[in-house]
Amino acid sequence: MKKKIFSGVQPTGNLHLGNYLGAIKNFVDLNNDAQNKCIFCVVDLHAITVSQNPKDLKSNTHETVATFIASGIDPKKSIIFKQSQVSAHSETAWILSCVARMGWLNRMTQFKEKAGKDKEKASIGLYSYPVLMAADILLYDSTHVPVGDDQKQHLELCRNIAQKFNNDYKIENFFIAPEPLIKKEFSRIMSLKDGLKKMSKSEVSDLSRVNLTDDKDQIINKIKKAKTDTLPLPSAIEELEKRPEAKNLIGIYSSLMNNTLQESIDEFAGKNFSEFKEKLSDIVVNEINPISSEIKKLLDDKVFLEKILKEGYEKANEIASKKIKKIHEIVGF
Ligand code: TRP
Repeated sequence: MKKKIFSGVQPTGNLHLGNYLGAIKNFVDLNNDAQNKCIFCVVDLHAITVSQNPKDLKSNTHETVATFIASGIDPKKSIIFKQSQVSAHSETAWILSCVARMGWLNRMTQFKEKAGKDKEKASIGLYSYPVLMAADILLYDSTHVPVGDDQKQHLELCRNIAQKFNNDYKIENFFIAPEPLIKKEFSRIMSLKDGLKKMSKSEVSDLSRVNLTDDKDQIINKIKKAKTDTLPLPSAIEELEKRPEAKNLIGIYSSLMNNTLQESIDEFAGKNFSEFKEKLSDIVVNEINPISSEIKKLLDDKVFLEKILKEGYEKANEIASKKIKKIHEIVGF
């Protein structure tokens, strides 16, 4: 049976190696498997749950589309579209917000983290964000959703919403409860400056991440300056547990080489970091450089990017409009 894959990326700018290895590279593999039907959504409605500069939001949307294509997602095979263009997303989110329970949302750990100490000042959108995410997924009868570990709870919520809707309206299998696709080994790429913190665009030091738009010299410099410990590289996986920076760098290497951790450890056991980092720089540059130059090229061709979004909108909207029409009938509108 064909898998129906759906995933979303927020257009918040500055995509980095963590986004690439944790999500986009995986999307490319899914796109390349003829068994899959993939939809990749630029989730601008999600982005405005925290304040955004409208000009930046627009250019970050283009940058996200350019990154998808530059990384190898083929818009002829997969649908790439912008969430806000397909109005069924907002509409379905409202209807589902009448199905989801406060108690369920109150358990969402990402809201607690993002809202921080002053929950009273967080937007209502930030709170109901997972309901919109459920709408995204359920509108397309998605069977599989590739996400990072941090989205697992939201996906569980989506399954609960789907089941409750089906139960409440006594219509079996109308919404399909999707399965998460989580890459266990390398889904969390950590900061180059602190192996315990996730690589993030919001970390102050640019040296903490490899941006997908970095050039060769920047990449080499960042890897050279990446934090390590003073021991040689380990010879057993267990040793990595107490060495977060070594674990992260070997993880990045393995992920780019499509190796297992064990294979990479076998390759570098007992060697020192300088030798390993040289090799690592080479492969990061080899992978990221063509992507970054392609992103730049595509960003110069806004007409092309808009065309991709328009075609994606038409395909996505066709599917979503049919589903929302049925939702209207079921609910009694
Ligand atoms: N919440 C996801 C994130 O921040 C993005 C997202 C929005 C998403 N809608 C989605 C992911 C639907 C998967 C499916 O990473």
